[in-house]
Amino acid sequence: MSTPRDPRSSPKSTLPLQATEGWNPGVWRSSPTTQQPVYSDPVALAAAVASLRSLPPLVTSWEIDRLRNQVAEAAEGQRFLLQGGDCAERFDECASAPIAARLKILLQMSLVLAHGGRRRVIRVGRFAGQYAKPRSTSTETRDGVELPSYRGDNINASAFGASERAPDPARLVEGHSRSALTLNFIRSLIDGGFADLHHPEYWDLDFASHSPRGGEYQAMVEAIGEALRFMESLAGKQLGEMSQVDFFTSHEALVLEYEEALTRQVPHRPGWWNLSTHFPWIGLRTADPDGGHVAYFSGIQNPIGVKIGPGMSVEHVLALVERLDPHRSPGRLTLIHRFGREGIADGLPPILRAVAETGRKPLWVCDPMHGNTRSVVPDSGPMAGEKVKTRSFDDILQELEMAFEIHLECGSRLGGVHFELTGENVIECTGGARGLSDTDLGHGYRSQVDPRLNYEQALEMAMRIARRMRDAGV
Ligand code: PEP
Ligand code: CO
Repeated sequence: MSTPRDPRSSPKSTLPLQATEGWNPGVWRSSPTTQQPVYSDPVALAAAVASLRSLPPLVTSWEIDRLRNQVAEAAEGQRFLLQGGDCAERFDECASAPIAARLKILLQMSLVLAHGGRRRVIRVGRFAGQYAKPRSTSTETRDGVELPSYRGDNINASAFGASERAPDPARLVEGHSRSALTLNFIRSLIDGGFADLHHPEYWDLDFASHSPRGGEYQAMVEAIGEALRFMESLAGKQLGEMSQVDFFTSHEALVLEYEEALTRQVPHRPGWWNLSTHFPWIGLRTADPDGGHVAYFSGIQNPIGVKIGPGMSVEHVLALVERLDPHRSPGRLTLIHRFGREGIADGLPPILRAVAETGRKPLWVCDPMHGNTRSVVPDSGPMAGEKVKTRSFDDILQELEMAFEIHLECGSRLGGVHFELTGENVIECTGGARGLSDTDLGHGYRSQVDPRLNYEQALEMAMRIARRMRDAGV
């Protein structure tokens, strides 16, 4: 993302574009769709959509192209992709502190990963639009009262009340505004004084003293500091001037009314672009090769992600790949697998082999979060007696380590990682250097949906992966 470039000075992409003959952004309407909000007032929906259509886009086709080129390089092993952010952003957290904290942790993780993997890192935030959630049940019942499930702030409110839970189309417009506000602040931070974060001496490394690996973590951070200083002296510049880092945005493109309204044509370039984000992805629950989401995604020019997971047959994955990337365009397709620590050894290899047999080379990314969620009822602590969703640091790390291994064994390459994380000091996942346990959950458990790694756990995770990449040379 960074500074919007003057299109005339941007290098033209040499990559082929999606063919869009016979396709239009409303194509999803003639296929079955799931996980869509049911709006009771069609007039209000039409007004919201008309408003969205008239508003400026959030990103440009030039930025999208740049990301697509970078994803193509990652698929060739020249870059590594880091994607991370909240499970669901919230309107009331569209505020300076959480946004800056999220950017800070992603930037720090990317420096650690670049150092370990000796490759440039593509930074993709799950932010500036991650406001809609698929749910496993469409209603929720409490004390005999049944209401629609909370589906993210773009759709309804999380409070358990009839008016709060009613899907409200005006929220789509509010979501667009909050995404724009988020993006505006992120662009300013990147262009401005955010370079301080390049100085590892300012990193919060308190947690390292709680870990037997503390010395190793300190040494790693010192080595990164030295490398940065070395680069600085070579370049003869302050890091401030070298801090033009790219950050891209992503969200699950779930609510097709919203995505359609932000899908545009641009002057002097062919095709249709989803200009609400650089990198939209299809969630596991909406990845039906014959469904509306896949029909919509098949015609947009963006690089796209698709979640791959338990229960998907090899034929299903091959059908997805064929429909979403029929022309085998470099950088077009990222497959994000999320089998869980227990499922990856059986689930992933047949898919890797089958895709390899087609001769395709998508970018492979591991999401070690969504297959490792468990519900616990802590017997003491702030959430004693309540059912709460959590994930363990060790399960997440183990799935990642297995993913690196399995890719190597199958002759392919893990080219990125996808995390749910926050830059703040919540306790939603267990484990990590501080040895957080089920009974600690609740000191700042703020997620309305899935549990996120906190600042320390996320930085530690990056250090563990970086070490793995450095030692194994992958
Ligand atoms: C998510 O990424 O928040 C999500 C719902 O993932 P999945 O589609 O893989 O379940
Ligand atoms: Co999630």
